[in-house]
Amino acid sequence: MKMIKICNLSEFSDNNIISKIVNSKNIALVKIKEQVFAFDDECTHEKYPLSHGMIDENNGNPILECSYHGTKFNLKSGKVVALPATKPLKIYKTEIKQGEVWVEL
Ligand code: FES
Repeated sequence: MKMIKICNLSEFSDNNIISKIVNSKNIALVKIKEQVFAFDDECTHEKYPLSHGMIDENNGNPILECSYHGTKFNLKSGKVVALPATKPLKIYKTEIKQGEVWVEL
C-alpha cells in the first residue's frame, strides 16, 4: 500500500461527500472539521453509492448513513452501527499535506 494524492482540500465543503476514481476504485471522501475520511463508495449492503449518503458529526465520532436503506457506518472504524448491512465498510488512512489530500491505497 502507498499514499496517493487524491485531490486538494479546496475541493471540499464541510460534510459534503465527494467521489473519486483511483486505480479503478471508487473512493468517497468527506471533510469533517479538520479531518478527511476516505472509504469505499459502495455500501456493503446492496452496493449503493455512499457518496449519496448523509453525515452526522456525532460529537467527533462521525456516522455515515446510506441513503438507500439507512445502514449507518462509523466512519472511524467502518463498523456497522445500524442495519441492514452487516459487513463493515473499508476505511482508508488519509493525510493532509500542504492543502493536498493523500490516501493510503
Ligand atoms: S444499499 Fe446501503 S443500506 Fe442498502
